[in-house]
Amino acid sequence: MKRLALLLFSVTLLAGCEKAKQDMYDQPRYRPFAASKLFADGTSARTPPAGTQPNARGDFADSSGGRAGQQAVRADVAAQAAGRIPYPVDMVLLRRGQQRYNIYCAACHSIAGDGDGLIVRRGFPAPPSYHSDRLRNAPDRHFYDVISNGYGVMFPYADRVEPADRWAIVAYIRALQLSQNAKAASLPPALREQLPVGGKR
Ligand code: HEC
Repeated sequence: MKRLALLLFSVTLLAGCEKAKQDMYDQPRYRPFAASKLFADGTSARTPPAGTQPNARGDFADSSGGRAGQQAVRADVAAQAAGRIPYPVDMVLLRRGQQRYNIYCAACHSIAGDGDGLIVRRGFPAPPSYHSDRLRNAPDRHFYDVISNGYGVMFPYADRVEPADRWAIVAYIRALQLSQNAKAASLPPALREQLPVGGKR
């Protein structure tokens, strides 16, 4: 009899736990598009800031069919598999690369890519300059891999820089390298004329 009472008691206790757990699911919340007095416009939903872009991946992303989410996954897979910059290198790609580079890399590698960034001036180990023969001759994929996996004391940026943006950064680093190592002869004549005397080689 005593045992039965104990059993009944524990079952009641456990049921109590279950009830508490359910309460977490059933807590007060707003349904989509419900009214609310909390905000001046009277709705509970907030409008995303102007210029917000949906960025989601996988079956349930972006549209009810999930199609756009799957396209994003396929684009990532293609970018991951590429051996070198898989897009046409135009001003759109370079501007995107410049913007991402200045956000994620310049703090250490510096705006010019010589490895003298502000964080380095404050004591972080100095990265090598991009303007060495070794890194000028390194394949595109090496830069992509360094961004994805990190390198030595540099940590990976895979969780912050999407595959397509990694290639945009690689394209921009190539432009930085060219900016410090272009032959005057490769410039159009009109630009070559503007070079100081002695720089026209
Ligand atoms: C917090 C500082 C820091 C940031 C931010 C940073 N790096 Fe680095 N990076 C380093 C350091 C330090 C090294 C040298 C690592 C070593 O040799 O141990 C390095 C090395 C490199 C190298 C040379 C690898 C080699 O072959 O020697 C490349 C390429 C590179 N980083 C690219 C990038 C790119 C692209 C970004 C931005 C997405 C970036 N890094 C962001 C610190 C940073």
